[in-house]
Amino acid sequence: MSAKLNEEKIQNALESVKNAAGEAVFAPESISGIVIKDGNVGFAIEIAEADAPNAKEFQKLAEDTILALEGVFSATAMLTAHRAPQQSAAPQSSQASSKAPKDGPHKPAKHIIAVASGKGGVGKSTTSINLALALQAKGKKVGILDADIYGPSLPRLIGINRKPQTSDKKLLPIEAWGLQTMSIGYLVAEDAPTIWRGPMVMSALEQMLKDVAWDGLDVLIIDMPPGTGDAQLTLSQRAELAGAVIVSTPQDLALIDARKGLNMFLKVNVPVLGLIENMSHFICPSCGERSDIFGHGGAKREAETLGMPFLGEVPLQMAIRETSDGGTPIVASQPASAQAQRYLEIADNLIASLEATVTQSPDIIFE
Ligand SMILES: Nc1ncnc2c1ncn2[C@@H]1O[C@H](COP(=O)(O)OP(=O)(O)OP(=O)(O)O)[C@@H](O)[C@H]1O
Ligand SMILES: [Mg+2]
Repeated sequence: MSAKLNEEKIQNALESVKNAAGEAVFAPESISGIVIKDGNVGFAIEIAEADAPNAKEFQKLAEDTILALEGVFSATAMLTAHRAPQQSAAPQSSQASSKAPKDGPHKPAKHIIAVASGKGGVGKSTTSINLALALQAKGKKVGILDADIYGPSLPRLIGINRKPQTSDKKLLPIEAWGLQTMSIGYLVAEDAPTIWRGPMVMSALEQMLKDVAWDGLDVLIIDMPPGTGDAQLTLSQRAELAGAVIVSTPQDLALIDARKGLNMFLKVNVPVLGLIENMSHFICPSCGERSDIFGHGGAKREAETLGMPFLGEVPLQMAIRETSDGGTPIVASQPASAQAQRYLEIADNLIASLEATVTQSPDIIFE
């Protein structure tokens, strides 16, 4: 059999890449997070800011280098660009930094809210981005983390996909529509094979939680991976969630899945802030007539039965699909529309639900 792959081999292979002048392309300290699983290799490389425009070439060079190693089936490099420290006009002082609370556990936001669903494709990502924008419209400082490692969709939803920069070993969120955003999709190529399995998913997610320089957020929305497996469970436990929102479509099947989602959060003592019914009914784009294609009201009834708040319903509408697939989320691009109004109402209900939850623990106050 072939010689066993290990981190050292990957590290050495990357370090030995030379440019035309014979200089090393990747500095040893720029390589991190090497994971190897059944011949699938993932790693992160930090490049200089000046090299950022050529990030794709560096990515390809690194991936091709690893692919050439015996026993490697796939190689996925996450490239980040290092931002040189800002020149400060103020005189240097070793005591100067009073602003960033360096010590103590770092929490990304006052309130972290997971948006989850038991089943894929119910509109979780569309709901996450529009809910984030609606909370922002209510005056909150909001971030969104696309934790869907298997199928990141934030770059498509906001119409931006570029490499985040790093500063002080942290990834800087990418600003879009006033939101601070982060997605694994910014870091890996779109056609990268899905090598993220089990522990690899978890380490990538933990890094996304810990190593992003979120700036003074009131709320961080986490768009969770679909389903209720181990990754979701662990993420729910580790992310210090203030609560979770469950998205469901009205079909019975999806509701059963929603129940699974609810149970998962209950198991790890995360309060469920409510249920949102997505694609709840169809509104005809030409005549405006409403049809309840799936039998309307299931989610509301279900929420009542399960004793969790019902946050609202969002119709199945072409305008929502077009804006969400076109990188112009409807709450930002058409804030006066009836659809945007739905999300704003949901945001009000969510804030109320969060307030009701946090009054039970007096040390957190949602203002
Ligand atoms: N209310 C809606 N009206 C019309 N189209 C919608 C609505 N909500 C979502 N969609 C569309 O449905 C598709 C799936 O939505 P989305 O990607 O948000 O689902 P998801 O639950 O995040 O999926 P996944 O499980 O793959 O992460 C997208 O094309 C999206 O634009
Ligand atoms: Mg999604």
